[in-house]
Amino acid sequence: MVTLLDRIGLLVTNDPAHGGRLGEIRDAALLVDGERIGWVGPTAKAPAADVRVDCGGRTLLPGFVDSHAHLVFAGDRAAEFEARMSGRSYDVGGIASTVGATRSASEDLLRARAGALVAEMRAGGTTTVEIKSGYGLTVRDEARSLRVAAALTEETTYLGAHVVPREYAGRRDEYVALVAGEMLAACAPHARWVDVFCDRGAFDPEETREILTAGIAAGLGARLHAGQLAAGPGVRLGVELGAASVDHCTHLREEDVEALAGSDTVATLLPGAEFSTRSAYPDARRLLDAGACVALATDCNPGSSYTSSMSFCVALAVREMGMTPAEAVWAATAGGARALRRDDVGVLRVGARADLAVLDAPSYVHLAYRPGVPLVSGVWKDGRPVVGEGVPAVDPR
Ligand code: NIG
Ligand code: FE
Repeated sequence: MVTLLDRIGLLVTNDPAHGGRLGEIRDAALLVDGERIGWVGPTAKAPAADVRVDCGGRTLLPGFVDSHAHLVFAGDRAAEFEARMSGRSYDVGGIASTVGATRSASEDLLRARAGALVAEMRAGGTTTVEIKSGYGLTVRDEARSLRVAAALTEETTYLGAHVVPREYAGRRDEYVALVAGEMLAACAPHARWVDVFCDRGAFDPEETREILTAGIAAGLGARLHAGQLAAGPGVRLGVELGAASVDHCTHLREEDVEALAGSDTVATLLPGAEFSTRSAYPDARRLLDAGACVALATDCNPGSSYTSSMSFCVALAVREMGMTPAEAVWAATAGGARALRRDDVGVLRVGARADLAVLDAPSYVHLAYRPGVPLVSGVWKDGRPVVGEGVPAVDPR
């Protein structure tokens, strides 16, 4: 079936062929042909279709690509958040409480909770999400988490190297060998990516290199957490190993910025984590001005960033990190796609997936201008409306 979405007030394509960073087209139309986009252009030139959906002047953009999320877990850490808001600082020790709750939970419960978070993301306009393991930390529990993730997304990431679990205290070498050996073998069939938390209190650069190198040898793509809590060699190690993305990048030295700018490695910024840990935000302006590719993602997890909202991250990036609204919207869509090495999402061009978000607003700027307001009134995934019937009736102009 071929559906024409027309009378789109502002279409963000992210296709430079239409000019500018966002490839914007005003008074646009878009043809959905099966799961893919069949045509994009001005309404006046739109081709015929089986069905027509009047977008009433709304803004359409590619669905958000959330390239960093930890959705497979049980338990709740609201008390830890509350203590932080009373002055306690974030440290990685809280991960252990989620690991305990996750190990004790049934697979059905993990599936239901992760599925609910994906549905919440979908309602907020996210059409692609990466999901990590990392709260199991045994061979059985990491493989189980990845099975749960794989039922929800193609973008699954093995994060056995989240922290060293308590039972390996004093034996970290044994845990690293397990993560790079038996656990990797059990998890690789369910994963596309391998990730390591390379930071203060987590894994050091030598351990990170060992695990990422083993993951790459097992056929996985590399990505890593670095520079969240302290600057260190993690960012440059990620670039050296050809990681698709280095995530957090809150604490960067000049050589880290230069390494990112001179590489294909994306700097993925996660402002929900700074919000929720009451920390200084990363300097997106510095990265952009140096020429690095920047993505935005939620880092949705029960400890450091329990938000599923990409709109919220866009608003934080604009208000707190020196990004323009256009840069932030690009980073949350095309940037996320780049961080996952995907060219079929994050862009609305012929042949790309028909994954899009409808904003009940005359411009994408409203994502930052109207923070906290649920502007996403429709979502299409693989050519089908999955949120909203189509489009509500009021013209926002
Ligand atoms: O990305 N940095 C490591 N992992 C998560 C935090 C996990 C937790 O606190 O449960 C993050 O922020
Ligand atoms: Fe994370």
